[in-house]
Amino acid sequence: MATFTDQVVIVTGASEGIGRALALALAPQRPKLVLAARNEERLGSLASVCNANGAETLIVRADLTDEMRCRQLIQRAMERFGRLDALVNNAGGTLWTRVEDVQDTGVFERIMRLNYLSSVWCTFYALPHLKQTRGRIVALSSLAGLTGVPTRSGYAASKHALFGFFDSLRIELENSGVSVTIIAPDFVRTEIHKRALGSDGRPLGKSPLEERRLMSAEECAALIVEAMEKRKRVQFTSWRGRAGRWLKLLAPGLIDRIARNAIEARR
Ligand SMILES: NC(=O)c1ccc[n+]([C@@H]2O[C@H](COP(=O)([O-])OP(=O)(O)OC[C@H]3O[C@@H](n4cnc5c(N)ncnc54)[C@H](OP(=O)(O)O)[C@@H]3O)[C@@H](O)[C@H]2O)c1
Repeated sequence: MATFTDQVVIVTGASEGIGRALALALAPQRPKLVLAARNEERLGSLASVCNANGAETLIVRADLTDEMRCRQLIQRAMERFGRLDALVNNAGGTLWTRVEDVQDTGVFERIMRLNYLSSVWCTFYALPHLKQTRGRIVALSSLAGLTGVPTRSGYAASKHALFGFFDSLRIELENSGVSVTIIAPDFVRTEIHKRALGSDGRPLGKSPLEERRLMSAEECAALIVEAMEKRKRVQFTSWRGRAGRWLKLLAPGLIDRIARNAIEARR
């Protein structure tokens, strides 16, 4: 029997990108998948493929920037399956603008609600159920959760917040049996880059990155499954991520240059 056979796993932001790839990667283990996002049609077609590959699915259409929808998501999962084994806080979005070019500072709040608060709310309501199963909590942060990145200030702030919250929660949960895994991916080829909010607060519509050079969502999902199975603390997806956190202590200016080049070299 595989690790997630018959286990109830919630994946937020499952309609696209990494969340979708993760659901597809888990499905052959025959879990019970709760797939959440706003686009019900895309969730429906994903659920059909997951069902065909062995999973049982529940789709929940929800805008997770609303705390009540996060609470309802957990309730719906419990009503349908009666237990909860893993929560993957994956839903997210990004910004692509220099701070001084921002036309409406509301974008900073929007990105914080989506990337940080939705994860906090889902986790808060899921926690009592996860303690009963000695379950798993996963949070999708980013390399931008460990270092500053130009044009990503609001995004980097929200991803740093995830590290602060989930590193703290892990200590609180010592001896509970519940594990907390933070994923810190490098660039991944998904919809996120073209959906990034520009200086006017609207999606760019076109990715500023050379997408073909990026890791695929499927490769990233495979690393997430492994990290979940092993209950790792942190999972990186590139050498730059693994080396960067140590190098930052020794040569912070060098890390700033690497971050600047990462944005400029891929445009
Ligand atoms: N791609 C990268 O380079 C990269 C790197 C590091 C970290 N990450 C992180 O990985 C996670 C997944 O990103 P991705 O690259 O897969 O992005 P993506 O392709 O844009 O997918 C984002 C997912 O989040 C959902 N979502 C967005 N707003 C939502 C809302 N208000 N309520 C509920 N769901 C919402 C979207 O679905 P709907 O639009 O249907 O709601 C979609 O399913 C994010 O947390 C991201 O920050 C990505």
